[in-house]
Amino acid sequence: MDYRNPKLLLDANQLPTGKVKWRSPSNIALVKYWGKHGRQLPRNASLSLTLSAAHTETELHYRPKKEHNDRVPVNLFLDGTPQPAFAERVQGFFEGITTIYPFLRQLDLSVYTSNSFPHSAGIASSASAMSALALCLCSLERKFFLALSDDQAFFRKASYLARLGSGSASRSLYPVAALWGYHTEVKGSSDEVAIPFADQLHPVFQSFRDTIVLVSKATKQVSSSAGHQLMEQNVFADVRYQQANQHLSRLLLASREGDLEIFGSIIESEALTLHALMMTSNPSYILMEPATLEMIQRVRAFRTEQQLPLYFTLDAGPNLHLLYPSEHMEAIGAFIQESLAPLGTGQIIEDSVGQGPVEID
Ligand code: PMV
Repeated sequence: MDYRNPKLLLDANQLPTGKVKWRSPSNIALVKYWGKHGRQLPRNASLSLTLSAAHTETELHYRPKKEHNDRVPVNLFLDGTPQPAFAERVQGFFEGITTIYPFLRQLDLSVYTSNSFPHSAGIASSASAMSALALCLCSLERKFFLALSDDQAFFRKASYLARLGSGSASRSLYPVAALWGYHTEVKGSSDEVAIPFADQLHPVFQSFRDTIVLVSKATKQVSSSAGHQLMEQNVFADVRYQQANQHLSRLLLASREGDLEIFGSIIESEALTLHALMMTSNPSYILMEPATLEMIQRVRAFRTEQQLPLYFTLDAGPNLHLLYPSEHMEAIGAFIQESLAPLGTGQIIEDSVGQGPVEID
C-alpha cells in the first residue's frame, strides 16, 4: 500500500478557503493491540467493537498559507479552548504525511474539536480524535481533487491515515466492529489498515452494550506510546503476541457463533493480560486501582450467581468496561448501579455498539 502522491498539490494561484467536519466514535478492543514496530505497525492483530456515545466531533478549517515553507501550522481548540500540546501532536501528524498529502503544506489549518465524554473521564480520546481528523483529510482530498469517490477506498485510506496518528484509531472507521493487523485466518487483513468486521459477527453482538464504570479521573501515569515502547524489552512479549493470535482465532469462531461464554473468557483474559504486561514491564507500572479489582470480583460472582452474560474488559486505565447483550440491560443495569458504581467515582457512561463515523454538513 503506497499512498504517496506528489501530484496532490493545489493551484498556488487559487488556494481554497473552507471547512469539513466529521463525527467519529471511540472503540473498545476485545483482543488488544499492545506492542508496535516500524511506522505504527502492530505486533499482533486486534479486534474491536465500535462505540456510539463516546465520540469526537472535529471541524477542520483551511485557508491559503502565507509563508512558503515545509511546515503545516495548526491551531487547535478543544471545546473552544486552545490546546498547544495537542496542536503540536497534530502538527507532527500532518507534517509526517506530507508525502501523501503535499497540499497540507499550502494551507493554514485550524482544528475545532470536542468530545462527547468529559475530558477527565479517563476514556482514551485518541481513537476518536485521530480517526475524525483522518476523515477530514480524506474529505479534503475528495473535495480538492475529486478523488476517493468510492466509499470503500475513502474509508480504507482514512483508516491508513488514522493509524499513523494513533494505532487504535485505525479501527474506529467501521460500523459495529473492525479488525486491524494481519492474521492468517482473516482474508484481507493487513497491518496497514483496519478492515470492516460487522458481517462476521453473530447478531447478538450487533446491539451489545458497553457500560463504563469510572474508577478514577486522574490522567495516566504512563502514556500508551511509552507502554508500547516498553513491550520491546518485556520478557513475555513473544509469548504474548502468540497468545493474541490464538485468542483472535478462538474469538473469530465464538463471534460468528454467538458463543458468549468463550467470548467472555477471551476478552477478560485479554484485559488482564494487558495489565499484566504493564506490571511486568521494566520499569513496572500499575494502572488498575483497588476498586477495579473489587469490581472484577463482583462481576464474576454476579455472573455465577445470576447466570447472566456479563463480562468486563479494560483499556489502558483503571475504568471497567462492562460488555453484555442489550436484552439483559435491566437486570445488569441495576447491578452496575447498585453494586459497582459506588466503588468508583459514582459516574458511569452508557454506551453501545455503534454505526461508525458520520460526515456533518
Ligand atoms: O492507539 P494507541 O497507540 O493509543 O494504543 C492503545 C492501545 C490500547 O487501547 C491499550 C489497546 C487497543 O487495542 O485499543
